[in-house]
Amino acid sequence: MQPIQLFVPTFRIDETLEAIRECLEKGWTGLGFKTVQFEQAWKDYTGLPYAHFLNSATSGLHLAVAQLKAQEAWAEGDEVITTPLTFVSTNHAILYEDLTPVFADVDRYLCLDPQSVAERITTRTRAVIFVGMGGNPGSYDAIRELCNRHGLKLILDAAHMTGTRLHGKHIGHDADATIFSFQAVKNLPTADSGMICWSPAELDAEARKWSWMGINKDTYARTQGGGAYSWYYDVENVGYKYHGNSIMAAMGLVSIKYVDEDNAYRRQIAAWYEELLADEPRIERIPMAPDSEPSRHLYQVMLDERDDVVSALNRARIYPGVHYRDNTLYSMYNAAHGDCPNAARASDRLLSLPIHMRLTRQDVERVAHELKAAVRERVTAH
Ligand SMILES: Cc1ncc(COP(=O)(O)O)c(C=O)c1O
Repeated sequence: MQPIQLFVPTFRIDETLEAIRECLEKGWTGLGFKTVQFEQAWKDYTGLPYAHFLNSATSGLHLAVAQLKAQEAWAEGDEVITTPLTFVSTNHAILYEDLTPVFADVDRYLCLDPQSVAERITTRTRAVIFVGMGGNPGSYDAIRELCNRHGLKLILDAAHMTGTRLHGKHIGHDADATIFSFQAVKNLPTADSGMICWSPAELDAEARKWSWMGINKDTYARTQGGGAYSWYYDVENVGYKYHGNSIMAAMGLVSIKYVDEDNAYRRQIAAWYEELLADEPRIERIPMAPDSEPSRHLYQVMLDERDDVVSALNRARIYPGVHYRDNTLYSMYNAAHGDCPNAARASDRLLSLPIHMRLTRQDVERVAHELKAAVRERVTAH
């Protein structure tokens, strides 16, 4: 029996190689050229006004926090409310800037619960980072409203949200900063890259300097005035080497053409799981936000005795995943352990089922069948 993996990225190989060849022939693989084209393609695709291409979403999350801290003159120890149910990049970004992550609980969407966030707001709260789990906007609208009411900045960790639409519009247009990931297994795969989309123009302009060591003119721009290479740039602040490169952008420019088609198939796979798992009440399914078209980066369920069920699935050569362990279980975030009971419960029970372009209806039937069998076996074993 063929193994069924959680994720297998699909690349349009000939087209991607052709796009990379263009970079090699031109002799330009770094910042500029394809990165400029990809930023434009991304703005056209999402309708977002600004986009700056980076080497990862992790870099983008750090830039978002760092730039806001500088602009708003936040002090060390000021608080950012965040979720314990995420990849650690989200929360490390807060610590990179010596701010304090304050964990709020998740709701039935596995995203931040507006009520729990409201309870965590203090005089030192400066921002909220919202993670759209698996592409689900969850209670994003209510969090946006809460941030407006309390004068808090809203950073949207949209690592999973390429192609997610809410009320008919691509997600990200009303956050202060939205960060996307184009890491290898994301919906728009490259190898490693990301995008930061600011809403104010000046922060987009700043991001371009911060991502290139604080230099006020990139090398590509410096060669555009007729080929002369000017070394008379200024360095305005301590920046980072976070910008994206033309090889990744070349991959992204091909992937972006297919992302809506691919996401439609992801939604089809999710609909098959929903249909096939509906008759097993011990497998808890996760609702999607109303009036949304989620990217379906993940298809998650919750069940008891998750680890034993995973072992049974592995014996059937099915390899699901877990997104995520409650971050407060990690020693460095352990001080907050116990603050978020929903996240703690989810952490023990979550399971991400295989979802990618190469899965067929038969594969999904096999996963659903084996999953239900494993869950039922656990019940009869007791
Ligand atoms: C929710 C979330 N945030 C941030 C990241 C970081 O993305 P990247 O790998 O592009 O740095 C990931 C990646 O897995 C993620 O899942």
